[in-house]
Amino acid sequence: MKLFVATHNQHKVREISQILPDFEVVPDDPEGVEENAPDFIGNAFVKVRAIAAGHPGEWCMADDSGLEVRALGGEPGVRSARYAGEPASTPNNNALLLRNLEGVEDRTANFTCAVALVDPGGREHSAVGRCFGRIALAPSGAEGFGYDPLFIPDGFDRSFAELSAEEKNAISHRGRALAAARKIVMAGADGQ
Ligand code: IMP
Repeated sequence: MKLFVATHNQHKVREISQILPDFEVVPDDPEGVEENAPDFIGNAFVKVRAIAAGHPGEWCMADDSGLEVRALGGEPGVRSARYAGEPASTPNNNALLLRNLEGVEDRTANFTCAVALVDPGGREHSAVGRCFGRIALAPSGAEGFGYDPLFIPDGFDRSFAELSAEEKNAISHRGRALAAARKIVMAGADGQ
């Protein structure tokens, strides 16, 4: 079954394809949309609505995710990609996060991923996944992307960037949100 996904991020397409191997993931760039909602699910709906009009009768999906750090009041949150300002820079974002947590004892954090879906009949659905952990004192690992070298998931002593794709997908915010999204799509597909 085809699943149109509102993204131009090849890394994301690969992760979604790994987590949803029974779907043909077709990326569609939601060009020019302003991701200015105050929360992840709002931004996911902005993106999926932008592509759904172009794919009537098909399943469409968008996700929006980010890192929330307790001691920083939930920051970087929806600003995760551009935490250190424009243009978006992973090294700058990670350096700023470490700077803002200098001397901070409570390093509790979680990733959140919100998924918005539009079904072939135009109805909207949503799913959310979270992964809890802590921010390391220094980066480690070379896998993944974004804040992965700084995030140590609960139950592990390695960062996301030191886990294999399979290990990360099994516990990640995106893995959990997409597993829930998969159930919604499968249930909908059965009912049509
Ligand atoms: P997006 O909404 O999924 O594009 O994510 C926004 C930003 O959140 C990314 O640019 C990353 O900085 C951060 N982020 C989201 N998911 C992850 C992840 O799995 N690992 C590391 N960083 C992530």
